[in-house]
Amino acid sequence: MFGSRRGARSRDGPPVESCDRGVSEHRDQGVVLKAIATPYNQAHHLFAVFTACFTLVVITAGASVTSNDAGLSVPDWPTSFGYLVKVPPLVGGVRFEWSHRAVAGSLVLFTLAIALWTLLVERRSWLRKLAVAALGTVVIQAILGGLTVLFLQPPVVSTAHAAVAQTFFCIAVSIALFTGRQWVEEVPKVEVDSRRPSLVTLTLLSIFVLYVQLILGGMFRHKGMSWWPHVAHAVVVAVVLTWTAIRALSVYSKIEAVRRPAIIMLSLMIAQLCLGFMAFLTRVAWGKDPVQPERPMVISTVAHVAVGALLLATTVVLAIQVWRHVPAALAERVPGTERTPQAA
Ligand code: HEM
Repeated sequence: MFGSRRGARSRDGPPVESCDRGVSEHRDQGVVLKAIATPYNQAHHLFAVFTACFTLVVITAGASVTSNDAGLSVPDWPTSFGYLVKVPPLVGGVRFEWSHRAVAGSLVLFTLAIALWTLLVERRSWLRKLAVAALGTVVIQAILGGLTVLFLQPPVVSTAHAAVAQTFFCIAVSIALFTGRQWVEEVPKVEVDSRRPSLVTLTLLSIFVLYVQLILGGMFRHKGMSWWPHVAHAVVVAVVLTWTAIRALSVYSKIEAVRRPAIIMLSLMIAQLCLGFMAFLTRVAWGKDPVQPERPMVISTVAHVAVGALLLATTVVLAIQVWRHVPAALAERVPGTERTPQAA
């Protein structure tokens, strides 16, 4: 993937590919990309896509627990009413909490499977490490979920549980991206980014402001903070993401791998702002001290969490694609950095 790009400039000429002892070389616009050739494995990729999609299901199920105020319906952990696998009567909040535990438990098993599968079939060492990191993250996430129950939902722990969930989602989506046919087989079309701040910087800034927004939203949702820092920071998120999308679309619209996530990111951001507004109306303005969770509040807040996760993951994909397709930006910011050829 991110092989030696700088210092490998050669004569101009049409894109060429050559293979030498498993190292492929792509020349485009005078820049040479070197990468360890890796075969596309369809079954492995499809399972990675499935795991990423399933993660969104688990995040949605987790959001339903909070929105339905069902977090402590099952008082013990890791057992549920004293049993590891026995299904309790699915009444009241137990429906949401136990279902979330069931799908989350399945996700741990899927993650174990994708990690082992990746270790077995993958040649790229950094991707093997990422798969192991995914397994570590899902285990941390399960422990945080347990601590939330055992310590009666401290806001900081519940917020950490929300943030690590979305981090795991981003890792799962990245594994799906890196194992895809397009990633493995395409010759990246490389362009030079000489603007400042560079598009790479803008995408990293977008990820940062989204994380801050996720933490502020989590702290409010879990009653550790007022609502206004989250709503005020939404303005920062809107400005930074719009700036990033406009730069990507105005300068690099010819690069499909950059254009597509930029458009999706912008669309999701607009949807997320609308959902945030609806969540605010139903939770804060109209929903003070309800006898029980109202359906409009549940639907809008769960959708707001799910679209927030999709927005963060799309922004991570955009950052990765920008790093791949607009590498000169990074190389020129850090003069003298040479990267040894690595696997694509
Ligand atoms: C693109 C910008 C935004 C992002 C990325 C975002 C993200 C999030 C996330 C991830 C959460 C839940 C955290 C958790 O899992 O516990 C959340 C909660 C919340 N957000 Fe946003 N948000 C954005 C904009 C807004 C706006 C503009 C408003 C209001 C006008 C808003 C209102 C809320 C409310 C009320 C909650 C709490 C929902 C609840 O109590 O269940 N958000 N936000």
